[in-house]
Amino acid sequence: MIARQLAPDILSLVALDWDRKLFDQLVPLHDGTTYNSYLVRGSEKTALVETVYPPFTADYLEALRKTGLRKLDYIIANHAEQDHSGSIPAVLAAYPEAKVVTNARCAGLLRDSLGIAADRFIEVKEGETLSLGNKTFYFHLTPWVHWPDTMVSYLAEDKILFTCDFFGSHLASSDLFASDEGQVAIAAKRYYAEIMMPFRQHIRKHLDKLAPLDIDMIAPGHGPAYPRPEFILDLYRRWASEEAEPEVIVPYVSMYDDTTRLVRYLVDRLMERGLAVRPYNLVGADTGHLAASLVDASTVVFASPAVLAGPHPDIVAAAYLTNALKPKVKYAAVIGSYGWGGNVVANRIVETLSGLKNQVTFFDSVLTKGRPTSEDYQSLDRLIKEIVAANQPLLAAAAAD
Ligand code: FEO
Repeated sequence: MIARQLAPDILSLVALDWDRKLFDQLVPLHDGTTYNSYLVRGSEKTALVETVYPPFTADYLEALRKTGLRKLDYIIANHAEQDHSGSIPAVLAAYPEAKVVTNARCAGLLRDSLGIAADRFIEVKEGETLSLGNKTFYFHLTPWVHWPDTMVSYLAEDKILFTCDFFGSHLASSDLFASDEGQVAIAAKRYYAEIMMPFRQHIRKHLDKLAPLDIDMIAPGHGPAYPRPEFILDLYRRWASEEAEPEVIVPYVSMYDDTTRLVRYLVDRLMERGLAVRPYNLVGADTGHLAASLVDASTVVFASPAVLAGPHPDIVAAAYLTNALKPKVKYAAVIGSYGWGGNVVANRIVETLSGLKNQVTFFDSVLTKGRPTSEDYQSLDRLIKEIVAANQPLLAAAAAD
């Protein structure tokens, strides 16, 4: 691990986890990830912002030592999850004068999970400050991005906002800054989809709260820093809004091609009518890709064969994930095929999406007994017509842009 200069008297210590494949044993990582810590030296005091994931602790302590750090006053913890806080006990042991600066909720979680003694904490509230002499931190509580303890720290003189998970990306890169914004946008969208999307009401509120700050740089806890903050702020404003795009996502599984025939017909007809469509064959699929596609989409159609007296388990898992991620989708439907017990397929999927029932209009299902017949395709035409009509205002708005 190396220390690199983020700004005058501010070093970035990035633990690069190039080959990590899974986060929280759940989230697939395409490009590894990073755990970012920042060393801020004021004229009187010195502070770390976040630490790193425990497997990197030894490297991290060595990198800190190589910066010449002899005395540390504060460790600012914006979030208690251990990919950022896990090295705090080792840092406290190495720098016995240091105190952990955080909000009460984060302090409680850190005591519970890491056993840090109560007298090592300085608790801060909304708007409170911490002076390092010629540098001043302002703390702003931003709960539920994505835990109840989350906050951000604004370094006023340098106009840098330290955000931990907020605005992060799972992207291991030797770039300290987001120089390739196209690449970072893809990684940040996946990250938003998998971690932040269920909390977008909170995110909108926090974006409003942070709007008055004069920000020259955003320094997150994962992925490159943003020297052009509007890039990521604009993306977050769009992703967290309730405005959907005229786009249909079709997660599907097919055993004997009957469901595939329905999916292909649906996809072709919707494309003919100008809608963006993305089918996902879920066999071996990357759920992170599906999650990212749900960030903007207006419509989701689950397509499943009947198996084991219900929908295919991969479809149930995709429906469960969709329900948990709470995307802004407005319309949903189920299509598929069965040999017997067809209604069970649709009912189970709709039940699994129960968390979306207040925001989603469910169109009637189209389920075929075996190979789709001409009558089945007529039913599918009826569904296609409903999807197109529902999306017409969004199509018109997109055309007007
Ligand atoms: Fe990157 Fe919620 O931890």
